[in-house]
Amino acid sequence: MSQADPIAELESLESEGLAAFAAARDSGAVEAARIEFLGQKQGRLKSAQERLKSLEPSAKKAYGQRFNAAKRAIEEALEAAKSRVERPSIAADAIDVTLPGLMPKLGHRHPLTQTADELIDLFGRFGFQVARGPEVEDVRHNFEALNIPLSHPARDPVDNFYITDKTLLRSQTSTVQIRIMENQPPPVRVIAIGRVYRPDEPDETHFPMFHQIEGLMVDKGVTMADLKTVLRLFASSYLGTDVKIRFRPSFFPFTEPSVEVDMLWHGGDRWVEMGGAGMVDPNVFRAVGYDPDEVTGFAFGLGIERLCMRRHGIKDIRWLTQNDARFLGQF
Ligand code: DAH
Repeated sequence: MSQADPIAELESLESEGLAAFAAARDSGAVEAARIEFLGQKQGRLKSAQERLKSLEPSAKKAYGQRFNAAKRAIEEALEAAKSRVERPSIAADAIDVTLPGLMPKLGHRHPLTQTADELIDLFGRFGFQVARGPEVEDVRHNFEALNIPLSHPARDPVDNFYITDKTLLRSQTSTVQIRIMENQPPPVRVIAIGRVYRPDEPDETHFPMFHQIEGLMVDKGVTMADLKTVLRLFASSYLGTDVKIRFRPSFFPFTEPSVEVDMLWHGGDRWVEMGGAGMVDPNVFRAVGYDPDEVTGFAFGLGIERLCMRRHGIKDIRWLTQNDARFLGQF
């Protein structure tokens, strides 16, 4: 039997026991440490307890108190180790639901879509319904029924994207006027919004694909004054009352008389064309089976990109198709 100080031996037994439980990483290691220190038959605490009997009576009390403290400390270390290794292990790639979430990046509607939606809303309040037509058109709807004969320069292949002799990517949404009137009797009050295609050289205000809004109103007694009223009301509602527009006499085969509508551009030093308009030509009415002695009508076609640009102060039409999130994020 060792002659070392029995109290000191209890102290090192306690610290070895605490270290063993602290180092245990799984329930097997915890159980091994439990048997080593707290085992009923051969445990090291058990032997330390046996030793009490061999001590001098005067030393028994102090030894007994120190033994009880060491035993309590080791039992507590066992409990702590047990609950630690029993906690379900968290895999490295598991989701920690207690972490704050990552906000998903949300997109939003493209400025042109926002513009189109606003135009639909605005003209809806003037009583216009929405119609659609195909982007791949036939020459009848893109030209012939619009009073544009085969000899007209607007039909030239250098100014259009023909697909075959008889079909092309539509160059204007005026095609939808024909499709509507072919399919319903007057009165008519519709708009059509969509893409149109022209082989134009891109610059600040031109792009080979752009969007138009077409408007058509046919009824008994519709006049040029109605056209100007609707377009002025529209311009001040959409662009603001401070944006000036003007009407210039012009020519389109499908209207008589015809005007071009300009808006004073950013900076106020130049006019930019917003679109064309006019009173529907009697030949167009005849082509779709309407009686020009019964009804009159006005029509207009406006460029949506330019309206959007004027409204938001956008300087270059090409920015609208570059998909730069720094640009798009501003709308
Ligand atoms: N389609 C013409 C263009 O793209 C614009 C236009 C002019 C539309 C007169 C119309 C109209 O409906 O009546 O240049």
